[in-house]
Amino acid sequence: MEVIIRPDAVAAVDLVARLIAERIRRHPKTVLGLATGRTMEKVYANLLERRVSFSQCTSFNLDEYIGLSADDPQSYRHYMQQHLFSKTDFQPQNTHIPEGDADDLEQAAHHYEQLISEAGGIDLQLLGIGEAGHIGFNEPLSAIMSRTRDKCLTPMTRRQNAAMFGGDPGRVPKRALTMGVGTILEAQEIILLATGSAKAAIIAQAVEGPITSMVSASALQLHPNCKVVVDNSSASQLQGREYYEFVFDNEPEWAAFRQ
Ligand code: F6R
Repeated sequence: MEVIIRPDAVAAVDLVARLIAERIRRHPKTVLGLATGRTMEKVYANLLERRVSFSQCTSFNLDEYIGLSADDPQSYRHYMQQHLFSKTDFQPQNTHIPEGDADDLEQAAHHYEQLISEAGGIDLQLLGIGEAGHIGFNEPLSAIMSRTRDKCLTPMTRRQNAAMFGGDPGRVPKRALTMGVGTILEAQEIILLATGSAKAAIIAQAVEGPITSMVSASALQLHPNCKVVVDNSSASQLQGREYYEFVFDNEPEWAAFRQ
């Protein structure tokens, strides 16, 4: 794992968008794992400004609320259409989101795993992190080997996402269909982005704490190619800051990104 600390949220978002854009320019057929949420809105806006062509990319989103149809304005399909898909040259048939309104959720989850595998697996997985430590909707106690399945959301996650449901946590669906931690760990490369002081405590636990299913993001410590990009506020409780900054300031792979 590598931790990159940027001075503010704008710089952190910019770095992540640049890493994604450069990967797609080098490999136009990239299979992307995508996330939703407020943090990602800024990444997608930044990618639009960069005029990246997604025409040959395939995407798999991490999760979808159970019970919401694709055209529901609160669904993650709707979010992705609004923030990325409809504004780019992404081929609609190449964009995938778990089928949260499927009659048979177990079958839908199995089918999603099959589609990922038929696409050759995920090349680059983008992640946010919830205050409960989730990646995707892998809430505490999600098995580190878990696959796509339905998961009950924590009250904390429902409060965190209430803004998108008129401010009422009671209106946030109770369950979601989400890629598992094991599914996520199979991606070739992972980039997790966190900004803001509300994420500082959970980032410290995920990066420097023990690997535990109580903090799903801590499982990323097992991944051989995972970057955690944070702004100063999200980095404020990290103990190893001096080393992380030294790596970014000195490693040749980051030379082009330092200006
Ligand atoms: C949603 C997802 C979640 C979010 C996380 C952070 O697809 O994967 O794990 O990334 O809840 O959400 P924000 O950015 O709204 O704080």
